[in-house]
Amino acid sequence: MLHLLVILSVTSFTLAASQTKVLQTRSYDPSMVAFWPLNADHGTVDQIGSNDGLPTGVTVDNTKHGDICSAYSFAGNKNSFIEFPNDGGFDTHYSITLLVYVYPTGAAGPIFNFKRDGWGSHLWQTGANQEFVRMTRRSTLSFTEDLRADVLVQNEWNFLGATYDYNSGEEKLYLKGVVVNSRNIGSMEISTNYEARMGVHDTDTRYYKGLITCMQVYNRALSPDEIIEAEKLCTKCPAVVSGDPHLTTFDGRAYSFQGTCWYTLVKDCLNTNPEFEIRANFAPRDDVDVLKTRTVAINVTVGDESIIVDRSNKISGNTNDLKSWQRNIDVSFNNNTVMISFTVMDTTFTLHWKGRKHIFTADVSDIAYHGKVCGLLGNADGDPHNDFMMPDGKVSKDVNEFGVTWKVADTRCE
Ligand SMILES: *[C@@H]1O[C@H](CO)[C@@H](O)[C@H](O)[C@H]1NC(C)=O
Ligand SMILES: *[C@@H]1O[C@H](CO)[C@@H](O)[C@H](O)[C@H]1NC(C)=O
Repeated sequence: MLHLLVILSVTSFTLAASQTKVLQTRSYDPSMVAFWPLNADHGTVDQIGSNDGLPTGVTVDNTKHGDICSAYSFAGNKNSFIEFPNDGGFDTHYSITLLVYVYPTGAAGPIFNFKRDGWGSHLWQTGANQEFVRMTRRSTLSFTEDLRADVLVQNEWNFLGATYDYNSGEEKLYLKGVVVNSRNIGSMEISTNYEARMGVHDTDTRYYKGLITCMQVYNRALSPDEIIEAEKLCTKCPAVVSGDPHLTTFDGRAYSFQGTCWYTLVKDCLNTNPEFEIRANFAPRDDVDVLKTRTVAINVTVGDESIIVDRSNKISGNTNDLKSWQRNIDVSFNNNTVMISFTVMDTTFTLHWKGRKHIFTADVSDIAYHGKVCGLLGNADGDPHNDFMMPDGKVSKDVNEFGVTWKVADTRCE
C-alpha cells in the first residue's frame, strides 16, 4: 500500500511538473472524436480516445510518395485490413466528418466502413477513380442515396472527405477541401455505432489496395476551410539536412547552400526571445576539392535547456543537470540515430540525427506553428514558394542571399 502511494505521488508530481511553461499535451478541435495518424511514428494509436486500430496483414510503408513519407499499405486481399473498435468514442450518431489520405493502386474497396460485416455508414473507393460515401439509417441500416464523384487519381495522394449535417440534412463529398458532390438526404440518426473497417468488408469481395494515412473523425460537419486546416494534421515528409542537395524544407523545397559555421535551421518566429531554436554547425568536407559543407553538430534549445549533439552522437549541454521529468527535451538512441523531441505550443518536433552520416531530419506535427517558424528549413506553412524567407520577413529569390541571413553571429566554429 505504501509502495502504491509512493508511486501515485511521484506520478502526480510528474504531471504537475510537465504542465509547466513549454511542455504541454496537445489539443485538438473539441469535435474531433478519433484520429489515427497511420504512420511509422504513431502507428494505429487513436490520438483522441482509446479506440486503437487493430492491424491485420498491413505493413508500414516508409518510402516517399509525393510529400508523404510514411503510411499503411493494404495488399488488396481479404487478409489485409485495419479494424477500429468503437467503444462509443467515435459513434457520432447525428453529424459527422470523415477525412483521410488515400493513395489507391487498385480498383475498389472500403476506406472507412462502420460494421465489419454489414452496412453502417461508409466511405469507399468504388471505381479506379471513384470516391463514394453513403450514410445509413441507425435504426434499420437502410441506405440513403449515395454520393459519388470520379475524382480520385491513381498512384497519387488524394485527401478525401465526407460530411453529414444532421440539422440541415446536407451531405457533402470532398477532395482536397473542395466539395465534389452534395445532396440533401434529410435529417436522420446515422449508423456510426459499430466498429469500423478499412480495407476489407466481410460480405464483399472488393478489397482496398494501396496506401492510407491520417484518418480523422469529427462529430459535426466541418466547413471547407476547416477541412483545409485539418489536412495540416497529416504528417508530411520531414525536413532534411544531408548530402547534396543539402537541405529540404518542411514544405518540401530542396536546395543546396554551402555555408560554414552555425546557422539557424528552425526557430520560433512568434517571439523575439524564441521558445525554441535548432541550429546546425556546417563544416567543409576535407575529402573534396570544391567547397562542400556538411553538418557536424546540432544545437537544440528549448526554453532554458540546450543540448549539443556532435558527429559522434555525443551529447553535451545543460540538460544533464535536470531530472528527466524536468526536461523539455527528450533524448533517446536507436540504431546510430539520436532521437530528440520536444513539444511547444501543442506542436511536437521530432528530430533524428545520424552524426556519422551527417544526416539530420525534422518532423513537425500539428498546426500551431505552421507558418510561424523561420530559418533554413522554411516557414512550414505548406507552400514551398515562400520558403526563402529572411529574418526581416522578406522572401528572397536567391538561395545565397537567403542562406547567409540565417548565419548565427559571434559563434565559434570547430
Ligand atoms: C545553442 O543555441 C542557443 C540559442 O538557441 C545559444 O544560446 C547557445 O549558446 C548555443 N550553444 C552553443 C554551444 O553554441
Ligand atoms: C539500422 O540502420 C541500418 C542502416 O541505416 C538499416 O539498414 C537497418 O534497417 C536499421 N535497423 C533498424 C532495426 O532500424
